Amino acid sequence: MESNQTITIQTRPSYLVHIGSGLLDRCGQLAAEALTPCRAAVVTDSNVAPLYLSRVEESLRAAGFSVCAHVFPAGEARKNLSTLSDILEFLAQEQLTRSDCVVALGGGVCGDMAGFAAGCYLRGVAYVQIPTTLLSSVDSSVGGKTAVDLRAGKNLAGLFLQPSAVVCDTDCLRTLPPLERADGTAEALKTGVLSGEELFSLFEADDITPHLSEIVGRCIAFKGSVVEQDPLDNGLRRTLNLGHTAGHAIEKCSGYALHHGHAVAAGLAIIARAAEALGWAEEPCAARICAALRRHGLPTGTEYAPAALAQAALADKKRRGGSISLVVPRKIGKCEMVTVPVGDLERIFAAGWEDR
Ligand code: GLY
Repeated sequence: MESNQTITIQTRPSYLVHIGSGLLDRCGQLAAEALTPCRAAVVTDSNVAPLYLSRVEESLRAAGFSVCAHVFPAGEARKNLSTLSDILEFLAQEQLTRSDCVVALGGGVCGDMAGFAAGCYLRGVAYVQIPTTLLSSVDSSVGGKTAVDLRAGKNLAGLFLQPSAVVCDTDCLRTLPPLERADGTAEALKTGVLSGEELFSLFEADDITPHLSEIVGRCIAFKGSVVEQDPLDNGLRRTLNLGHTAGHAIEKCSGYALHHGHAVAAGLAIIARAAEALGWAEEPCAARICAALRRHGLPTGTEYAPAALAQAALADKKRRGGSISLVVPRKIGKCEMVTVPVGDLERIFAAGWEDR
């Protein structure tokens, strides 16, 4: 039986991340430790609502919050301005004031939509994150990045707003469909490559289920330390994008049919192999990374050719004029930014490319 843990994220303002079993039924009490009980608008989607909404509402009410809920249709395709507009209209209809709060219940799309709405409704109200997927638990629920997709691309409109609290009930992670579990595993494994052996080696076992709490805790502790140093993503925080330059390109080439975590897994494998082939690595680690990815049902290659990936990466947010910064694994626990001319991208992707 793993014990619950609480991690403090020392941003301004600071907040607590609670991780453990049975926390959905305590989310009201934990939210009330961060916020004076007020009107709470729970924002969730049509997949999550039937599973967890009533428990969250009940816990919030028991802690003194008055609760309303908005459920939007589930799916990545709903992460757009129209859904955002519906949420904002709902908050206004419910007459939320600046002393009230939003509660994001669900995966990354819910967190992004609810966080963005909280950040712009009345120029900003507080919000609490209750992640229910592995991906949102290990990454997006912490750090305050929120965004929606525009027709021109993914995550092109957004804002930074740190949550007031994060409540991660690890029981939700034990029943995820395999595809969703694998998606989150990719981001967590990526954090292992960034942070070091203690986390990375957990993915060298066949089954991570017994270690879910430890994995979430280690990922959040690592991400928190990075976000504390660079909350607005001006430097160090960009290293969290390990695997994402090729990953985003793969996602784009697939017309976003491939899940984000699966694309990141292939992107991570490509840059790890490229780092060795191009002499950037201090110690070989690509074979270990690829073996761990495969063990958890994740791809280590792609059918999209290096030229197509390089073309897709030109629109990447990480591009600055004629150059782009890649996060390169030197060894497990040491990754650094390398800035290259965009014209070199195809050669770099080719150095690490493998078919699926
Ligand atoms: N997901 C990367 C970040 O929050 O910066």
